Amino acid sequence: MAIIFHEKSRQFHLYNTDISYIIEVMDNGQLGNLYYGKRIHEREDYSYLHEEVYCPHEVFCQEAPSLLGLSRMKQEYPGNGVGDYRIGAFLIEQENGSRVSDFQYVSHEIYAGKRPLQNLPAVYTEKDEEAVSLDICLRDAVTDTELILTYTIFEQYPAIIRSARFTQTGEGEIVLQSAMSASVDLRDRDYEMLQLSGAWARERSIVRRKLCQGLQSVFSNRGISSAEQNPFVALVRPTTDENHGEVYGFSFVYSGSFLAQAEVCAYDTTRVTMGIHPDNFAWPLSQGESFQTPEVVMVYSDRGFNYMSQAYQELYAKRLARGMWRDQERPILLNNWEATYMDFDEEKILKIAATAKEAGVELFVLDDGWFGTRDDDWQGLGDWYVNRRKLPNGISGLSKAVEDMGMRFGIWIEPEMVNKNSDLYRAHPDWVISTPDRFESPARQQHVLDYSRPEVVDHIYKMLSEVIEDSCISYIKWDMNRYLSECYSRVAGARDQGTVMHKYILGVYRLYERLIAKFPEILFESCASGGARFDPGMLYYAPQAWCSDDTDVCERVKIQYGTSLVYPIRSIGAHVSAVPNHQNKRTTPLLTRGNVAFYGAFGYELDLNKLSAEEMKMVKEQIVFYKKYRKLIQQGKFYRILNPFEGNEASWISVSEDAKEAVAMYFQRLNTVNGGFLRILLTGLSEDTFYEVQYLDRTLQLYGNELMNAGIPVERKLLDKLGGDFTSLLFVIKAVEA
Ligand code: DGJ
Repeated sequence: MAIIFHEKSRQFHLYNTDISYIIEVMDNGQLGNLYYGKRIHEREDYSYLHEEVYCPHEVFCQEAPSLLGLSRMKQEYPGNGVGDYRIGAFLIEQENGSRVSDFQYVSHEIYAGKRPLQNLPAVYTEKDEEAVSLDICLRDAVTDTELILTYTIFEQYPAIIRSARFTQTGEGEIVLQSAMSASVDLRDRDYEMLQLSGAWARERSIVRRKLCQGLQSVFSNRGISSAEQNPFVALVRPTTDENHGEVYGFSFVYSGSFLAQAEVCAYDTTRVTMGIHPDNFAWPLSQGESFQTPEVVMVYSDRGFNYMSQAYQELYAKRLARGMWRDQERPILLNNWEATYMDFDEEKILKIAATAKEAGVELFVLDDGWFGTRDDDWQGLGDWYVNRRKLPNGISGLSKAVEDMGMRFGIWIEPEMVNKNSDLYRAHPDWVISTPDRFESPARQQHVLDYSRPEVVDHIYKMLSEVIEDSCISYIKWDMNRYLSECYSRVAGARDQGTVMHKYILGVYRLYERLIAKFPEILFESCASGGARFDPGMLYYAPQAWCSDDTDVCERVKIQYGTSLVYPIRSIGAHVSAVPNHQNKRTTPLLTRGNVAFYGAFGYELDLNKLSAEEMKMVKEQIVFYKKYRKLIQQGKFYRILNPFEGNEASWISVSEDAKEAVAMYFQRLNTVNGGFLRILLTGLSEDTFYEVQYLDRTLQLYGNELMNAGIPVERKLLDKLGGDFTSLLFVIKAVEA
């Protein structure tokens, strides 16, 4: 791994064993991109990659005989108004109304490790030797604005991390109308764009579409990253699959509105940009003020999606997530939401908790409904003190009772929200995000608190701290159940209204940071109506996230499969719930519900007292199994095998670092009569290792290359015996003496 600056050619080469990324200072002082992809040989001068052609229609940015016209050049962080007509990476409005910029290279700094981003989530190093970073300083002479583009390359991951920082050094004020975190020009257009799209209860479906000339984009303008589009896109070759082919991944470490675009230009290059969505964004900068963009993590793989996902999963699990839970096995929890909804009292909860303990559960989580007058979703949000009618001994008494049973205890909160029927709203109606003289649109009967205001964050921090200090709380599920609308802060002036949406997210981050600092032992799980804020920004504060409100196993197979494209298995909150399923009424076997939920931060979301003795026996067996293989599943290398978006089956495998142990899962959606032979070709094992494979009451002994190339037969009669539809098999694989 290195970042080299070649003085003579004025080129930067960032590389590690997998990737090369090459930047040049062009003749006009702006930055061009020469290459991004598989590692190439290091050399003094890559000018042969600089592509310039003469075309009479070109707008040239220098006098003749230069050919430099920006509309065909591959650039690094393109501006506006100087002859590049593709999408810009930023837009600055000057006091005189001009929107033209021209940032030219001034200097650079190469340094070991990676510096944190102020007030923003960011990938980090633990030791300087893990990564090397580059800050390139540019300046627009007319506005006297400084721009620093930051790049980090890790030794161990095929990843480049980018962000940008604007500082107004001149006397005039500028307004940043848009500031993307990264822009990359790729040399051809033969890609499909892969995105993780969906909606509430069907988050992160894998969608691929062929690029064509023009713009294709995904975005959220909802104030949070959203269930509709995840802040991730990949450009992939049409033939790329899980284990073969090129992938360029772009993942945004941010939890607010975002925009990711791919533009194919008339000359067959592709430009990708990613950053904060420019709608509802306008950031004024006066002399001495700066704006730091969040960061984009770009991963390149020439070995298909699995290699890309493993890079993201490991980087995010080990160098984005933080705190004492980062490397620990995550506790098996039971959450009472689908067991009781808001209809509970202490006696009911303790009964559920006692049976959970008997089954082997390690953490009991009390969901929505424990505070204020929260008997339904019309009231109570904002009043973070216990409802004594339901819980006469308080959270304090209940948490101690659960701890005395031998389990940890956790609670649900939704600190960014308020119901109009609450003491908080009655005391502070102006704390709600809303625009003067306009309707305040409700969603789930609730409104969003203005977290751009420090006093609002301080107040909630104080209320929550009191609850936590008074009780034995080991876990917090932090929910967020509506999107922002009528975005406006009652205390900001007209000039600053365009900063509110971003400042809202900074306020959320600030509250997380303060709670984490004060209560470092608490495990946070983020949530937003299920998985509407499952993004890398959140992982920096909460190392796990509730994946979806849809707990039906058929849907979960897809949601978990899509989520695993970017996010660590240990971060994916996955629970077994009751049947018929509460969301889609489907009835599926308990065995399968467990087998799928194992691949995540595993838990239950039902009242175990309502199960038959036979089902309870199976729950106990599931918990014993998970405790035995939890480390391998949560921390092993994860490979997707069969894609449920493409067919009737799904399959995946977690393999230990030394490839001596693995647990694979096979799922069939609907049964087939008189079907052909089924076989799964495993992945990630060691070719010449001899393995024993156990599933149900069967044992097979085969070499790794047999399991991966000839595959394991999946006998249809076994699937029939298990019930046919929605059945699954778990294969435990261990290296043995030949
Ligand atoms: C939405 C979450 O996704 C659910 O798990 C549950 O916590 C409810 N909110 C509670 O209101």
